[in-house]
Amino acid sequence: MTLPPPASMPAPAGRSPAPAGRFARISGWGSYAPRAVLTNADLERMVDTNDEWIVSRTGIRERRVAAAHETTASMAAVAGARAIAVAGLEPDEIDLILVATLTPDYWMPSTAALVKEAIGNRRAAAMDVAAACSGFVYAYATAHAYVTSGMARHVLVVGAELLTRFLDYTDRSTCILFGDGAGAVVVSVSDEPTGPHGIELTTDPAGAYMIWLPAGGSKSPSSAETVARGEHFIRMEGKETYRFATKSLASSALAAIERAGLEPDQIDLFIPHQANIRIIEAVAKGLGLPMERMFVNLDRYGNTSAASVPLALAEAVDSGRVKVGDRIVFVAFGAGFTSGAVAMEWSADPANGARAGAIDPGAIAVRLPVDWDSVDPIPAQLADVLASPGPVDVPLDDVVPGEPEPARAHVR
Ligand code: ACO
Repeated sequence: MTLPPPASMPAPAGRSPAPAGRFARISGWGSYAPRAVLTNADLERMVDTNDEWIVSRTGIRERRVAAAHETTASMAAVAGARAIAVAGLEPDEIDLILVATLTPDYWMPSTAALVKEAIGNRRAAAMDVAAACSGFVYAYATAHAYVTSGMARHVLVVGAELLTRFLDYTDRSTCILFGDGAGAVVVSVSDEPTGPHGIELTTDPAGAYMIWLPAGGSKSPSSAETVARGEHFIRMEGKETYRFATKSLASSALAAIERAGLEPDQIDLFIPHQANIRIIEAVAKGLGLPMERMFVNLDRYGNTSAASVPLALAEAVDSGRVKVGDRIVFVAFGAGFTSGAVAMEWSADPANGARAGAIDPGAIAVRLPVDWDSVDPIPAQLADVLASPGPVDVPLDDVVPGEPEPARAHVR
């Protein structure tokens, strides 16, 4: 990474405006959702659940499932390339690539390193950010700090997850919640003040084991025994997590709004982590705002963890819900327990979103190691359901023509 000359000292954490003459703004955005859809009806064929329970308790109707040839890095690279195109930049103009994820392709190398190569960038530093579902907000805050301190001019921030390979499809309390996808923004330097801006990040380790994945780390490396115990799957205490979520989303959002010098009713649109419609409703109520100010797309994607906020943000901008001058807040919570929020004034022309059409996902490939062939990554129960789709006919209206084939089209 070639460093531009440093500006003055960064502002205190979470505060803005940034040092004189050096501001940060979102210049590009993009997303990618895999093509295969897993509906509630599909899940009814896998576990003892039903559409009515899932919709009334969570708001989720369907979620996307990555195909066998897709990975977190491949989805992140497409979303990232789209964000760079929307920003009107060349890949090599990116100084730093941050990928927020809890489902990296490998423990090492970082998923960000794979994304760097896949998008054709030759000069950026690259690293992953691990803060679970809050990861995108943490990565955005890191990008903001890099840009306003003078350490980078353009930072690609991606949230990407492939959660469907880490779910226990015999546990109805978790397997109905999560889906796959990726979203990205480019955070760019600006000489002009970018309006009110505030960041809040928190971590409460008291909740460390409320959502966790027990095996595969140094405490319990993967082994036949950990697999037999199902310790390679996500575990969650739903009620505790729900309680934390409703409290932390509202308090984090409020703190970020205050730091921006604003009041909640001055915020045009909230883009909350898409975990559960009841959580979002509770936050709206807590902030005294109508649900129209909350952007919701969890009905179609489920909880995509670190991808959820940027996936929703890209959709909100592209669908005309965000205009230049609007004040928006994005806010998330997740394992850790982490939470984070950003309040900002939107300054990029939403019409630039059309530039994402120049990116052909089929032309973006993540390089695989030579002489190594992974086992089929799709969980067996999921494979069966995806191979024989249920009776529900789900339109794939937001799929961009030319995107990779549905699940199991290219099993390696
Ligand atoms: N279908 C049918 N019944 C179910 C299902 C299901 N899929 N799952 C649970 N149930 C049953 C339970 O067994 C229980 O039955 P019982 O009363 O006979 O014991 C009953 O439904 C109620 O279960 P609860 O767990 O109390 O249901 P609750 O209303 O709390 O909803 C949920 C569960 C949706 C998981 C909720 O607690 C929640 O959303 N929590 C937050 C989860 C979350 O957001 N996690 C993401 C964290 S972000 C990250 O970093 C990964």
